[in-house]
Amino acid sequence: MKTRITELLGIVHPIIQGGMHYVGYAELAAAVSNAGGLGIITGLTQGTPEKLANEIARCKDMTDKPFGVNLTFLPILNQPDYPGLVRVIIEGGVKVVETAGNNPSEYLPALKDAGVKVIHKCTAVRHALKAQSIGCDAASVDGFECGGHPGEDDIPNMILLPRAADELEIPFVASGGMADARSLVASLAMGAEGMNMGTRFLATKEAPVHENVKQAILQATELDTRLVMRPLRNTERVLTNPAVERLLQKERDLGANIGFEDIAAEVAGVYPKIMQQGDVDAGAWSCGMVAGLINDIPSCQELIDRIMNEADQLIAQRLEGMRAGTGTAA
Ligand SMILES: Cc1cc2nc3c(=O)[nH]c(=O)nc-3n(C[C@H](O)[C@H](O)[C@H](O)COP(=O)(O)O)c2cc1C
Repeated sequence: MKTRITELLGIVHPIIQGGMHYVGYAELAAAVSNAGGLGIITGLTQGTPEKLANEIARCKDMTDKPFGVNLTFLPILNQPDYPGLVRVIIEGGVKVVETAGNNPSEYLPALKDAGVKVIHKCTAVRHALKAQSIGCDAASVDGFECGGHPGEDDIPNMILLPRAADELEIPFVASGGMADARSLVASLAMGAEGMNMGTRFLATKEAPVHENVKQAILQATELDTRLVMRPLRNTERVLTNPAVERLLQKERDLGANIGFEDIAAEVAGVYPKIMQQGDVDAGAWSCGMVAGLINDIPSCQELIDRIMNEADQLIAQRLEGMRAGTGTAA
């Protein structure tokens, strides 16, 4: 399949694996890229420029295909060494950066001068327009369904994607709630040039996380996510568990007086315990509503091949059959 995104990124299939804290290591990024999509290493999981440089080198040992690095700009006091992270991305010859969180304008000139393509992930059309105006090459439009941070507007992709298509000139991928060929074909119909998946790639053979995390996603339904940290205007969609329910009770009890320190036990530093040690109840971890559509743990190659084959059938048989009036064979 050829779209503006496959052309821009030099990939075979219009499928991106979004940055995921303590998940987006070289193993997963390389597996996605080797399967023809775009794999992404999560920059802040590495934390320091030295460690990120090492992870980029490891990924290059595992794939000769393009892959990206996610840079999440956090609203915290102790800022990571972003200039250093950008430097090793450029020196490492990385071709694509997925930015998220705050506006990446400070680092765009350096990235663009080095020929790095920048995809800004955002949850509102106005933010995507801003990304376009400062020179980002593409947007990843993340609907309310998404795992992680859906923003505060709560606009699902059935509305957000056509809105983005009406406004944007740069290409964009659909993100949030994407799992299969139906997601891809629907996204293309709504104006996207491909799709970005997080939770779906978490439940793959190559995702370097504890088996308990993958099983928790398999067992979850679309009813099992919760929105936490809304009172702090830092909303995150997570899989429910006792720690999350405790956190939500604190939010109800403390109301507008709540501060980050009140919920630190449930959110700060919990990812290694969950992703590496498999203690899935240790705190709040991002997960999309799309868990309700995930029923297996394929390899990235199997997953991407299946999506592309089924997308082909959906378009050529079901949709074309309907259009031609010959019936829906698929
Ligand atoms: C476990 C997990 C960790 C994530 N960590 C990050 C992150 O560090 N930075 C980021 O930009 N997005 C992060 N995301 C969001 C994903 O990149 C992606 O945008 C999102 O998962 C899309 O929604 P979906 O889960 O419905 O596919 C994370 C998502 C998950 C599930």
